[in-house]
Amino acid sequence: MSRLGTESAFEVLARARALEAQGKKIIHLEIGEPDCDTPAHIGQAAVEALQAGFTHYVPAPGLPETREAVASWLSRSGRMETTPDRVIITPGAKPIMWFLMLATCQEGDEVIYPDPGFPMYESIARFVGATPVPLPLREENQFRPDPEELASLVTPRTRLLVLNSPHNPCGSVLSAADCEAIAEIAIKNDLLVLSDEVYWAIRYGGDHVSLLDIEGMAERTVLLDGWSKTFAMTGWRLGFGVFPPALIEPVSRLVINSVSCTSAFSQRAAIAALTGPWEPVEQMIAEFARRRDVIVAGLNAIDGITCAAPGGAFYAFPSVKSFGLPSKRIEEHLLNHAGVAALSGTAFGRFGEGYLRFSYANSVQAIREALDAVAAVLPELEA
Ligand SMILES: Cc1ncc(COP(=O)(O)O)c(C=O)c1O
Repeated sequence: MSRLGTESAFEVLARARALEAQGKKIIHLEIGEPDCDTPAHIGQAAVEALQAGFTHYVPAPGLPETREAVASWLSRSGRMETTPDRVIITPGAKPIMWFLMLATCQEGDEVIYPDPGFPMYESIARFVGATPVPLPLREENQFRPDPEELASLVTPRTRLLVLNSPHNPCGSVLSAADCEAIAEIAIKNDLLVLSDEVYWAIRYGGDHVSLLDIEGMAERTVLLDGWSKTFAMTGWRLGFGVFPPALIEPVSRLVINSVSCTSAFSQRAAIAALTGPWEPVEQMIAEFARRRDVIVAGLNAIDGITCAAPGGAFYAFPSVKSFGLPSKRIEEHLLNHAGVAALSGTAFGRFGEGYLRFSYANSVQAIREALDAVAAVLPELEA
C-alpha cells in the first residue's frame, strides 16, 4: 500500500468541507468535474432502462449495443475507425489505466508519464511494481512534451508511454507535429501508448489531434475516454477503452476479477448520450470558454501571477513562481485566508512546483469572487 498514491483534489475538498462545517464560505475551484447537470435525455434513458429490466449482470466487456455505439461514435466524430470487439466499457475511465497497467507492466518495466499530470498514472505504475519515469511538461514549451527529451527517457525497459491531451492540469493540447514526432519514437522503440483523451470534447478552437491519427499507431495505442467530462456524468461511472486485439482478453479477465461488469442501465444511458443531441455538450463548452476568458484575464491582472490561455479541458495553470514560495504553501494560504480551494501544482508531480491549478468548472460570478479574494490575500503571503 505504501506504493499507492492518491488524488489531492479529494483531500483539499475534504479540508474545504471541514472549513465549511465551521461556517466558512469556500469557493470550490479544486475538483475537476463539470458543474452542469447531465443532459435530461440521458437521465431519461437510464430511467427507461431501469424500467425495462436492465438491472442484471451483463457481459464483462460491455453490452454489445454500447460497444457498437462507441465504435460508431468514434467513426462519426472522425477520431478512429474501430470495431466493437476492440471496445471495453468500464465504471469510469480510471479503470482503463488501472487494468492496462495491471495487464502489461511489472517489476523492471518503466512507464513514462507526463509531469505535471493526472496523479493516478504514477501511482498505478508504482503500485504494479513498475518504475514511473516523469516526462516534464514545461511552460516554455506550452506544457507539451519535448520529443527530444522523450527520446532521451526511453530505455530498453520502457513498456508504456502515457499521454494526455487535452491535458489535466495544464490545459495544453498536442499539435499534429507533436503526434508525429512522438509516434516515430513509439514505433522505433516498440512502445505501447496510453492516450488519455477524456477531455477530447472540451477544446477551445482547433481540431483534436491524436496519436491515433498516425498510421501504425492503432496497433500499439490504447484510447481512454468516457462519459464523465463530455456529458457531465462523473457520478455515473462510465468510461471506455479501445484496445489492440491482444489486450481484449486479459483486460476482460481483469474486469471479471474486479467489478464483473459496468452497470447495465448506465450503459443504456451511455448509448443515449452518444446518439442524442449534441447541443447540451456545445452549450457546456461555450460556457467553459466564457469562464476561461474570465479566469485567465483575472489571473493575469493579479500582481505576481501569469497565466497562459488553456487550449482545452477546464483548468487554468498559472505560474506563482514570483512569490518564491512552495506552491503548497500558497494553496493553503488561499484556502485558509481567501476561502478559495485550488490545488498546488505539485499535486500533479514535482514539475508542477511554482504553479497552481484552478478548475473553472464554477460560475463566472464565483470565479470573479475567487479572483478578488485571491488578489486581496496574496500581498499578506509570508514565507
Ligand atoms: C486526465 C484524466 N483522465 C482520466 C480521468 C478519470 O475519469 P473518470 O472520472 O471517468 O474515471 C480524469 C478525471 O479527473 C482525468 O482528469
